[in-house]
Amino acid sequence: MKDHLFLLGFMGSGKSRWGAQLAAPFGLAFLDLDREIVKGERQTIAEIFAGQGEAGFRTLERKYLHALAEQPASVVALGGGTPCFFDNMDWINRQGRSIYLQVPLETLIDRLQRKAGQRPLLAQWPVEEWPQRLGKILEDRAPFYEQAQHIVEYDGDDSSFFSRLCAAAF
Ligand code: S3P
Repeated sequence: MKDHLFLLGFMGSGKSRWGAQLAAPFGLAFLDLDREIVKGERQTIAEIFAGQGEAGFRTLERKYLHALAEQPASVVALGGGTPCFFDNMDWINRQGRSIYLQVPLETLIDRLQRKAGQRPLLAQWPVEEWPQRLGKILEDRAPFYEQAQHIVEYDGDDSSFFSRLCAAAF
């Protein structure tokens, strides 16, 4: 199918939160790629990282991404790293539309401090190192994220962000 709406962006950018809010009024299903992996593998993301390493996780992530082609048109929240491995970003843009939720690093860090335990990439570093570590990852990932068909910047105002997201989406 051609019509998924993919939301991409760094951990903490709000892909799942805004994805669910976008899908409902338009009568679309909402899918979260991490959740599909957890359901299918019967393991948490942290358990998959611990057992198979990041490389094993990325292979699974691609498999579950491709499986979305069998699903009816949905709003899909991708994982933060999904667009940045293999040829995933090309696949995403071929299979549907894409929006990058671009959120400043300071806002991301602020949000992520509340949920670090669920994210194996973060759990490996003390919070003091996050600005430098996450800044570097964000910089490396930006060229992938910026291949999205739309970029919506978060400016600190949820309602303006959501209306610009709706405008990009529909
Ligand atoms: C990851 C982001 C996570 C999850 C995994 C790896 C990443 O998803 O896929 O922990 O590489 O940025 P969220 O962006 O939903 O937290």
